[in-house]
Amino acid sequence: MGVKKEARLRGRFKEDIDAAVQRFVASVPFDWRLYRHDIEGSAVHAEMLAKQKIISRKEFEKIKAGLQDILAEIDSGKFKFKLELEDVHMNIESRLFELIGDTAGKLHTARSRNDQVALDMRLFAREATVRVIQTLQALNTRLVEMAAKNIKVVMPGYTHMQQAQPVLFSHYLMAYFEMFSRDIARFESCRERINVLPLGSGALAGLPYPVDREFVAKRLGFGSVSANSMDAVSDRDFVLEFESSAAIAMMHLSRMAEDVITWSTMEFAFVEVGDAYATSSSIMPQKKNPDTAELVRAKTGRVYGHLLGMLTVMKGLPQAYNRDLQEDKEGFFDTFDTLVYCIEIMAGLMASLKINAARMKYSMLSYILATDVADYLVNKGLSFREAHAVVSRLVSYAIDNNKELNELEIKEYKEFSERFESDVRNITLQKSVEARTSQGGTATAEVKKSIEKAREITGGY
Ligand code: ARG
Repeated sequence: MGVKKEARLRGRFKEDIDAAVQRFVASVPFDWRLYRHDIEGSAVHAEMLAKQKIISRKEFEKIKAGLQDILAEIDSGKFKFKLELEDVHMNIESRLFELIGDTAGKLHTARSRNDQVALDMRLFAREATVRVIQTLQALNTRLVEMAAKNIKVVMPGYTHMQQAQPVLFSHYLMAYFEMFSRDIARFESCRERINVLPLGSGALAGLPYPVDREFVAKRLGFGSVSANSMDAVSDRDFVLEFESSAAIAMMHLSRMAEDVITWSTMEFAFVEVGDAYATSSSIMPQKKNPDTAELVRAKTGRVYGHLLGMLTVMKGLPQAYNRDLQEDKEGFFDTFDTLVYCIEIMAGLMASLKINAARMKYSMLSYILATDVADYLVNKGLSFREAHAVVSRLVSYAIDNNKELNELEIKEYKEFSERFESDVRNITLQKSVEARTSQGGTATAEVKKSIEKAREITGGY
């Protein structure tokens, strides 16, 4: 069934568009989010056209005033986006016709929707990147303060989910500070490649008008102007870079979320999630569920999905612009929303945690000091491999006899190596931690250094 004809979109066609097709091709249900960027880009484009005498100064003033009115209408919720106008660009242009008449027709001189949409997406992505960076910075600031506050807390460090060596809880927190710092760096680097002006490329081949692209770039805060018109309208690698950086950041968040989930079980009870960040069970009254962390873990999946989806859209796409590129938007918006949301939730969740330092300490069995016992033998002259073998036998003996290492007699130690002396008793959790003074190790002095360095960084955010 044909529906209302929109002349500016129907061009040479004689028949009206099919209603299902109209819904199918329309992007306005989601790309309306680009309206601010679209209007900003149009206003600067019109200004440049006037400066270059492609349109008159008066025409520019009229266009600009009209665009400002439209912006106010949309901001205040009065604007009615129409499906039959397909996308945000046509909706705004059509309204401009209603407001200022035929002068509106001059705005699209020396421009195509192809370079227009590339511009809007880059403006949006640039803003999104800044927002993500700020949110990650706020999370990092919290982690550093938590690390400073809990500097005395010793916990079991795990490999393969087995107690491995004692570490400072702050060391654990600072590990995430490092990961999120790299995420920030990835987004900063991504921002540089986003920040290139595509407008002025036309549909694909460039423009037969004396446009001043540098002027537009400067006005819109772009660092440079795209070097090739086909590239500018047809690539979305900046979307992919944003989405892959987001996927990596979500991966980091999901790991932290998983630790919170594990550590807040009755079995671990290392932490307790603050009431504001937990939910209760509708049937089991004793339960306090870490749903927030579980959802962060789960939402990582859809962010990965958007990356994979867009990579697939781009794969084998012929030059130059194809409508396939319209599929960049929903995934991008959802990636951005989900990521910011999850970072904020995790920052709040981490700050809400009640840390059970005693529980962390008493969960550690003496076997966690086995490496230290081996290092002790190395200090007494054994090679590390020999020492490892001796301590393996010692641990196995202790376990078989249901004893902790510190419950063994010195003479029992001596059965495994003559080099054991009574000073083997000096090996403690705290000493184990403090011995690890290598750069980046868990010794308190090292962790304090990393916190100091981090504070300089977070102070500069
Ligand atoms: N909605 C379109 C998109 O997102 C705008 C560009 C349309 N260009 C075109 N030649 N049909 O890509």
